[in-house]
Amino acid sequence: AHAAGHPAAVRDVVAIAHRGASAYSPENTLAAVDAARDLGIIWVENDVQRTRDGELVVLHDPTLSRTTNVEEVFPDRAPWNVADFTAAEIARLDAGSWFGPRYAGERVPTLAQFLDRISDHHQKLLLEIKKPELYPGIEQDILDTLREEGWLDAYHVRRQLIVQSFSADALRRVHALKPAVKTGFLGTPDPDELSAYARFADQINPRYTTVTSEYVDAVRAVRGPHGRRLEMFTWTVDDGPTAARMADLGVDGVISNRPDVVRDAVSAG
Ligand code: G3P
Ligand code: CA
Repeated sequence: AHAAGHPAAVRDVVAIAHRGASAYSPENTLAAVDAARDLGIIWVENDVQRTRDGELVVLHDPTLSRTTNVEEVFPDRAPWNVADFTAAEIARLDAGSWFGPRYAGERVPTLAQFLDRISDHHQKLLLEIKKPELYPGIEQDILDTLREEGWLDAYHVRRQLIVQSFSADALRRVHALKPAVKTGFLGTPDPDELSAYARFADQINPRYTTVTSEYVDAVRAVRGPHGRRLEMFTWTVDDGPTAARMADLGVDGVISNRPDVVRDAVSAG
C-alpha cells in the first residue's frame, strides 16, 4: 500500500494518542488514557497547565470553558482561566459531560494522577508544556512532580518520557535543569537553524502539512544533545492514507486523535 521511499512496515513508526484517544473519549482525562490502552496504544500525549495554588493539571486550553462545566459551577468567574482557580475548585468540575453523557463525572486530572494512570498501564508519556509564558517556573514544577512520581529515574528518562513544547525557551530550561530528559520542539524550524535547536531538543515535531522528504533528511542529518540523530513526531493526523504517507516520508511517530487508525495504517505493510 506504500509508495517508494521508506516502507512503513519495516520502520518503527509509533502512533501517539493525542490528548489520550481523544476522538473516542474526553481529551486529557484518565478515561482518554484508558481508551488509548484499550486500543493497544503505548504513547499518550497530554497538555499541562498550572492552577492558582501551583498544582499542575492536564488540560489543553488556558481556560476551563470548552472542556468542563466551569461556567455552570462558577458563573461569576469569567474568563475562567485555569490560573485563577485552585486545584480544589477544578476538582469539582465535570470534564466529561461535554463529550458525552457516559463520561459524566470525569475530572480534570492532576499531572500526578495522569502519571499514575500511565504507569498503571505501562504506557509512555509525551508531555506538552502549554503556554509557559503564563506560568513562570512551570518547568521546575513539572520536573519536581515527575521526580516525586518516580519518573526521573534512568529507565523513565530513557524510554518512557519526552517533554515537548512550542516554546524553545521552555525546552532550554528543561534541558538545563535536567539534561537527561528528552525534549521535542513543536514546529518546523528552517533547516539552517536545526543545529541550534539540537543543543536542547532531541526531536523536531512539525505539523504534518510541513513535512517533506527533504525536511526529514535535514532533521535526520543533525545530532541532538544526547548524541543521537534528531527524531520526528508529526501532528495531528487522523486518517490512514496521510499517516501512511508520513511513514513513507520517514517520520518516527504520528500524533493522532485516532491512534488506532494510524497504527493500522503504518503497520499494514
Ligand atoms: O502534540 C502536538 C499537538 O498537540 C500540538 O498542538 O494544540 O493540539 O496541543 P495542540
Ligand atoms: Ca498538545
